[in-house]
Amino acid sequence: MRKLVTSALPYANGPLHLGHLAGAYLPADVYVRYLRSKGEDVVWVCGSDEHGAAISMRAKTEARTERDIIDTYHGLNGEAFERFGVSFDIFHRTSAPLHHETSRELFAQLVGQGGQFEERTTEQYFDPEFETFLADRFIQGTCPNCGFTEAYGDQCENCGRDLSPTELIAPKSKLSGAKPVLRLTKHWYFRLDLHEAWLRHYISDGSVDGQPHHDPTLWRNHVVGQCMSWLDAGLQPRAYTRDLDWGIQVPTVPGHITAEEAAGKVLYVWFDAPIGYISATKQWALDRGEPDLWEQYWKHGEAELIHFIGKDNIVFHCLTFQATLKALGDYNVASYVPANQFLNFEGDKFSKSRGWGITMDEYLAEFAELPNHVDAMRYALLRNAPENRDADFRWDDFVGFHDKELADKLGNFVNRTLVLVHKFFEGRVPAASLPHNAFLELSSRFKEVDAQLARFNFKDALASTIGLIDWANADLQARAPWTLAKADPDDPAIAEALAVACQAVALASALFAPFVPETGTRISGLLAAPAFTFAQVEASLAAGESLLSAGHPLGQPTILFAKIQDRKDDTRMALVQTQKEKLRAILMAAPTTHDSLPAADPVPDDAEATALSPAIEPEMIQYEDFAKLELRTGRILSAEAIPKADKLLKLGIDLGTELRTVVSGIALHFDPVKLVGQDVLVLTNLAPRKLRGVESRGMILMADTPEGGLAFIAPPAGSTPGMRVS
Ligand code: 2FM
Ligand code: ZN
Repeated sequence: MRKLVTSALPYANGPLHLGHLAGAYLPADVYVRYLRSKGEDVVWVCGSDEHGAAISMRAKTEARTERDIIDTYHGLNGEAFERFGVSFDIFHRTSAPLHHETSRELFAQLVGQGGQFEERTTEQYFDPEFETFLADRFIQGTCPNCGFTEAYGDQCENCGRDLSPTELIAPKSKLSGAKPVLRLTKHWYFRLDLHEAWLRHYISDGSVDGQPHHDPTLWRNHVVGQCMSWLDAGLQPRAYTRDLDWGIQVPTVPGHITAEEAAGKVLYVWFDAPIGYISATKQWALDRGEPDLWEQYWKHGEAELIHFIGKDNIVFHCLTFQATLKALGDYNVASYVPANQFLNFEGDKFSKSRGWGITMDEYLAEFAELPNHVDAMRYALLRNAPENRDADFRWDDFVGFHDKELADKLGNFVNRTLVLVHKFFEGRVPAASLPHNAFLELSSRFKEVDAQLARFNFKDALASTIGLIDWANADLQARAPWTLAKADPDDPAIAEALAVACQAVALASALFAPFVPETGTRISGLLAAPAFTFAQVEASLAAGESLLSAGHPLGQPTILFAKIQDRKDDTRMALVQTQKEKLRAILMAAPTTHDSLPAADPVPDDAEATALSPAIEPEMIQYEDFAKLELRTGRILSAEAIPKADKLLKLGIDLGTELRTVVSGIALHFDPVKLVGQDVLVLTNLAPRKLRGVESRGMILMADTPEGGLAFIAPPAGSTPGMRVS
């Protein structure tokens, strides 16, 4: 069926980083390239999200215009996407007049049809100096829960509690610093509560209005889980309008909203942003000279709608936007929302203010010297994709994937095949039919990847794709045509062995292309063949034929990937070292993330001691539970007592690529001076917590001795910090 694929519209208020790329854009690019290769009818839309309080606030605090900000970042991000091979059919923007018209029209339709909205007049904070209502984020004050003095009107970033602005103690306007005053204002609330019943079916069993709509087994557990917990809590009406001067003007709606009521109000950004998918499709159709074509992708069940997003956007897409679409009548609701979890960076969240992480444009500039740097990063991000759980990007893994898989496995196999065909068959595909077993093996591996891609399992699909190369390498090794040739240069098994290898390379050119498109093209170049599509592969497999015909002349072998870690040439590794040094410098300068937080600490100092000796009543866990733990070898570089906490020590631990602060409840057992140099095992992905004003980021593992003491679980002698333990 025809497909309309969307990727979350990124806010145009800053550069996007690798976590964004891995979240909603790369997986969608793989999926769309795959569909195109199958010959399916697909349109993929995206664009910049250019409204909302965050952009408006940035403009006001930096004394720039909103237009200046959005033009800068729409351009920067659009270009970075293009250079990363992200192949949107259109990258539109929500400041476009077509988008404003579309949003106003759809809002007016919903209000005008009656029953979907209710008006409410509530008290909202107003800045008396700037003479403007304040969005929740524009108000700061003291958190009633933890006492943090810089909590926002919607959330406290210290304790994580959701807040409403009126809960803040001593609120201040972020614009003027003045004390805001409460004023009455009227808004239009979408009756999301009326949509709860059908949404519950839609999310849980994949039916809409009693009819099967999509395959619910293709929805990820974490997506269904998040939606169900919202549904179980009960959906509430949600304001679709805001008092802001930046955004799409609320339209007048005869009989419902007068010009006076609409004045000074804009549509809520979370109403207009997903409508950006519709207006982008309209623009795409206009650009093709077929202005009505967009409707075939949005209406009357003629297409499947698929949203790629990060997990922070799940509720807005799966519940709110689907309810909006359903209320509009003839629009399709989404069939699939393969949301990703988050990607972290070297053990921590990406953070613009700390400089922790790397943006797309920085990577492109700083790795320009690395041959195939785009595919190198696409491969690393896709191999370690945060599909079902958060993942962590590490430069060491990046090097490992590149050198051990792209260079050693794929590059070597392609090279070896070409060299041997040149040596034994003058560079022409040998005329031998494939042994039946080898043909079956290759076709079943192709079908496996095909099925994984169709089910949005991109990470598994890439693992299977590199697995095909493992198989082909082993097969070539086992058939050993070079040994056969020594005994009898005319042995037909030589041709068979290389016919299998040529078929594997041809398959690889098609299979790798959605993940690493430039590499796909380069392999086709080496084969001197046109790029094979999934559709062609399917047809040739069904006919029992090889992709390359006998006698087809191959190109000259060249190296596909030069290893990054190379004893003779350190220029490529130097690029990675530079990145690691940057991170080391950040850690040295500010080892914790929340230096500015209040020193008061509600957690008693023995909290960690309790955590160190959990109840010994082992509950059975699944492997998946264990796999969530990230354990690494570390070495204690510093140890110091913490004032007024007699059980706690503050440890500085070398984890190979970073220095970690861990607060540990071992002070009663060890003299800090003697701990320096001690090797330890560290649980590195334990959520950070503050103990006596010190942020602890991880936990060291200890054994309880029979005498009631504690002993380190030390890695074997000769280990170095940072080794993964599994
Ligand atoms: O979270 C974000 O970056 C939002 N700008 C995503 C919007 S997605 C869609 F609705 F457009
Ligand atoms: Zn708080």
